[in-house]
Amino acid sequence: MGQEWDAIIVGAGIVGLAAGRELARRGARILIVEQQTATSGATQASAGILAPHIEASGDDALHRLTTRSLGLYDAFVAGVEQDAGTTIEYGRRGTLELATTAGAAERLAALGGTLERAGVSAQWMDGAEAARLEPAITTPLGALFIGAHGYIRVAELTAGLLAAARAGGAELLEHRKAEAITPQDDGTVTLRIGRKTLRAPAVVIAAGSWSGLVGPAGPAVTPVRGQLLELRWTGPAITRVLWSEDCYIVPWSDGRLLVGATVEEAGFDQWNTVAGVRALLEAACRLLPAAGSATFMAARAGLRPRSADGVPFIGRAPGHPGIVYATGHYRNGVLLAPLTAALVADLVLGDGADPALALTALAR
Ligand code: GLY
Repeated sequence: MGQEWDAIIVGAGIVGLAAGRELARRGARILIVEQQTATSGATQASAGILAPHIEASGDDALHRLTTRSLGLYDAFVAGVEQDAGTTIEYGRRGTLELATTAGAAERLAALGGTLERAGVSAQWMDGAEAARLEPAITTPLGALFIGAHGYIRVAELTAGLLAAARAGGAELLEHRKAEAITPQDDGTVTLRIGRKTLRAPAVVIAAGSWSGLVGPAGPAVTPVRGQLLELRWTGPAITRVLWSEDCYIVPWSDGRLLVGATVEEAGFDQWNTVAGVRALLEAACRLLPAAGSATFMAARAGLRPRSADGVPFIGRAPGHPGIVYATGHYRNGVLLAPLTAALVADLVLGDGADPALALTALAR
């Protein structure tokens, strides 16, 4: 039983691919094992929104992690584009969060003030000004614009990450189940794939909602289904990511819109439902009066892995230092990818002394 790899990564979603690319970039020999095909899990149903001040505004630890990761994004995308020899659609034109009730208006105006005091540029505006900025929307009571936010086209990012990881020597095995992940007395970890047993100094478990079921001492994560629609839009141009009380809209440069997302505990059921698709279509029509004439292109569903406190698990398995978990990213897998990749690479190759690891440790 040879030891060809410095680390074996279980899972080829956004987290596994970002970690694989970062480890390969730092010179490690990497094997990525995926039970299905790369990016077939929650990643393929992700909208790619980069919005920590919306997604994480209620949680200090998550807010710190997501804002730090957003700060890494420009260099992350540029690096992947360079390593992969590709271009990735990535926009930082902000989010416009719309209030259609007095309660939401009060909350968003207050959030804008809090962000400004913290040094984050945020602009509260009345409904008429919001409709001037985005003529496609139903005029709201008011709206909060946060300019630092953005989006990325996830399939382009993951294709770039895979190409960049491969350019660094990483290998991907698809349709292979990693079983019997076992820490050995010499500090290495063995893993069985079919009839083969592989050994490496480190195994990284980045299997999304399945992570807690794959290796020893795994953290508890709950699958939370998200359904997402793709429309072809022919109405007035939409420039910013739009966020209403019951859906968000991500406009791509080619005229497609993503409409997301449901938040449902449905076990491991990854199918779109009539109720989910209908709710998103109705929400889109309320937000965009012209949505009825958009073309329905696709519906997707994925299982976001949620930890009990909403903060991801990035850290060593208690009692098993050769096993590193990177899961529980819930709504922010894409946003947290650059930071997660760096933390995982530090844990595998370095001392893992980054203070963020105290927030993400499995025993916290
Ligand atoms: N980050 C958006 C979502 O999970 O729906």
